[in-house]
Amino acid sequence: MTSTSLPGGTWTMGDLEVTRFGYGAMQLAGPRVMGPPADRAGALAVLREAVDLGITHIDTSDAYGPYVTNELIREALHPYRQGLRVVTKVGANRDAQGGWPAARDPESLRKQVHENLGRLGLDVLDLVNLRLGNAEGPVEEPVAEAFGTLAELQREGLIRHLGVSNATAGQVAEARAIGPIVCVQNMYNLAHRYDDTLIDELAADGIAYVPFFPLGGFSPLQSSALSAVAGRLGATPMSVALAWLLRRSPNILLIPGTKSVAHLRENIAGAGLELSAADVTELDRIGG
Ligand SMILES: NC(=O)c1ccc[n+]([C@@H]2O[C@H](COP(=O)([O-])OP(=O)(O)OC[C@H]3O[C@@H](n4cnc5c(N)ncnc54)[C@H](OP(=O)(O)O)[C@@H]3O)[C@@H](O)[C@H]2O)c1
Repeated sequence: MTSTSLPGGTWTMGDLEVTRFGYGAMQLAGPRVMGPPADRAGALAVLREAVDLGITHIDTSDAYGPYVTNELIREALHPYRQGLRVVTKVGANRDAQGGWPAARDPESLRKQVHENLGRLGLDVLDLVNLRLGNAEGPVEEPVAEAFGTLAELQREGLIRHLGVSNATAGQVAEARAIGPIVCVQNMYNLAHRYDDTLIDELAADGIAYVPFFPLGGFSPLQSSALSAVAGRLGATPMSVALAWLLRRSPNILLIPGTKSVAHLRENIAGAGLELSAADVTELDRIGG
């Protein structure tokens, strides 16, 4: 077991031990996750700082940019430090308008896995999430063919572990009936708590839950209760939101995004904030 000074300690996905405080690389690409970053050197610096601070879980996808984020990760971090897990996802492409069209037929999925391997400079991908639904959220539809294709690629030795993303509870169950998953990556934060039951069920089974948009994503979390608790603690709302997630369940892994080294450091410090039972009760009402 590796020790870490990062808040939350570590969690093990399959045989991959990661820091519960991770980093989400999506918004390193240009506006609306399209094209290159305005500050390329700054983007590379954030990635290097994340690893220097001890983060061992970076979330990405070839759809970010497209390709931009994976190229930045490779340039900043390859050859990867021992124990660093670059977690990618497949199942969507990008169109010229910045849309996220589904690409989940077997041929597209195989192509995306090979492209991720090439672009990240890896022989095996540690963890691949099958991204389901659409930009508006999960959609109840069968996943057997797509998840079965990834399970095949796993048997071929190209992927160590699988997860699902933007998934309904029914799709999580359907995928698990085909093969083991080590994580579910869905939208969840203080104000968006649709997955509360799922999180507890996954925790009981030792499966990680990785909330995307932990800080609200493109529209920062805003709530008077959040501001009140933050004000009382002399902390930022972002810090309180991250600390609350770490406390919510031991299987929750954080992947907050930022383009700023200062925000990265602030978020790490903030996630370690101590919340009292009264703070948590007040915060729980936001999403209730
Ligand atoms: N599976 C999926 O379908 C899916 C969908 C969306 C996202 N994701 C993953 O989830 C990760 C996290 O999502 P996200 O980055 O979009 O949203 P997020 O982590 O909820 O929020 C990121 C936003 O918060 C701002 N921020 C971060 N720290 C801050 C601070 N200390 N003070 C003020 N502002 C701060 C960032 O701006 P600055 O850059 O200015 O700090 C950025 O605009 C992504 O990187 C991606 O890997 C997955």
